[in-house]
Amino acid sequence: MKKVVLIPGDGIGKEITNSVVTILEKAEAKIDWVECSAGLSAYEETGNPLPEETIQAIEEHRVALKGPLTTPVGTGFRSVNVALRQKFHLYSNIRPAQTLPSIDSAFKNVNMVIFRENTQGLYIGKEQWVDEDEKNHAESIAVVTEEASKKIITSAFEYARAHDRKKVTLVHKANILKFTTGLFLEVGREVAKAFPEIEFEDLIVDNMAMQMVMRPQRFDVVVTTNLFGDILSDLASGLVGGLGVTGAANIGDDAAMFEAVHGSAPDIAGQNKANPLALLFSSLMMLEHIDQMQVAENIRKAVYKTLVERKVYCTPDIGGEGTTSTFTQAVCDNI
Ligand code: NAI
Ligand code: MG
Repeated sequence: MKKVVLIPGDGIGKEITNSVVTILEKAEAKIDWVECSAGLSAYEETGNPLPEETIQAIEEHRVALKGPLTTPVGTGFRSVNVALRQKFHLYSNIRPAQTLPSIDSAFKNVNMVIFRENTQGLYIGKEQWVDEDEKNHAESIAVVTEEASKKIITSAFEYARAHDRKKVTLVHKANILKFTTGLFLEVGREVAKAFPEIEFEDLIVDNMAMQMVMRPQRFDVVVTTNLFGDILSDLASGLVGGLGVTGAANIGDDAAMFEAVHGSAPDIAGQNKANPLALLFSSLMMLEHIDQMQVAENIRKAVYKTLVERKVYCTPDIGGEGTTSTFTQAVCDNI
């Protein structure tokens, strides 16, 4: 049995984590869940959105499955998601986007995995006013280091090698941002030499955006800096049916956290309408991470079967007529 920290989170979090736990149990995943709290619900209960016990549990068990967390807008505590990524140095954000059977999307045969650097770039939010009083001139700093670039690019290549993928595309803007993304590109060219069997190409981000909506099938593994990855990974989700069907992993050297890409969906919370599929796909990445490949494969097959043969049991956001519960039951029946 592998101990895994389970953070149900806020809004629809409890419904979709319940669903995922039910399905993983049915598939006989060897997991012992350690339930912990975080987010708005933890804040309301304990006054702390990221309780010390939760941090300790992740430190101890090193793997977590996390439901979405509500972040108050404007005021209140800072994002717990960002805090967790920084605390455990989860430098690699991995987001697969794959066409699914019987889910409406603009493209067929898309199957790409985006590796987004998760700790640096323009995304760190180091901003300042040039004139504090006038507040009419702002600046923002982007940070790129050789060390962090090497880590994320190497993990993209290692993933490609382990999953028998043929190509890594590095996305940058080195024609304009010659120092920051130029460094990222230079490190990529260096790392690529150690993986001669994998094709390496680089693309400028604006061209990449166009290519992704013209011929997304040409992409395999993609690696890029934080902000570009943030934007392009949502774009990739949109190519295959939206945020409701895409999972994600945040991986560091000492810990890994798996979560859906969507948020806590307060508009539908508690109504048995939430689609657990995105979190379920994240949990499959988690199963692979803890070497329970066969369990992951069995669940994936059951999900595909459910999408094709029992679409009515799926939730309305993907064209079904069912609920969180009917979907969960249908997948369990197919396992
Ligand atoms: P959201 O992703 O929660 O919702 C956007 C729309 O998609 C809503 O109409 C919602 O009903 C729908 N939706 C989302 N997930 C769904 C699912 N599984 N099944 C069916 N429909 C689904 O984004 P929003 O409204 O911008 O954010 C709500 C809260 O979530 C905010 O507090 C935000 O900060 C937080 N959030 C947390 C994330 C995380 O924990 N990783 C990521 C994104 C947002
Ligand atoms: Mg985003």
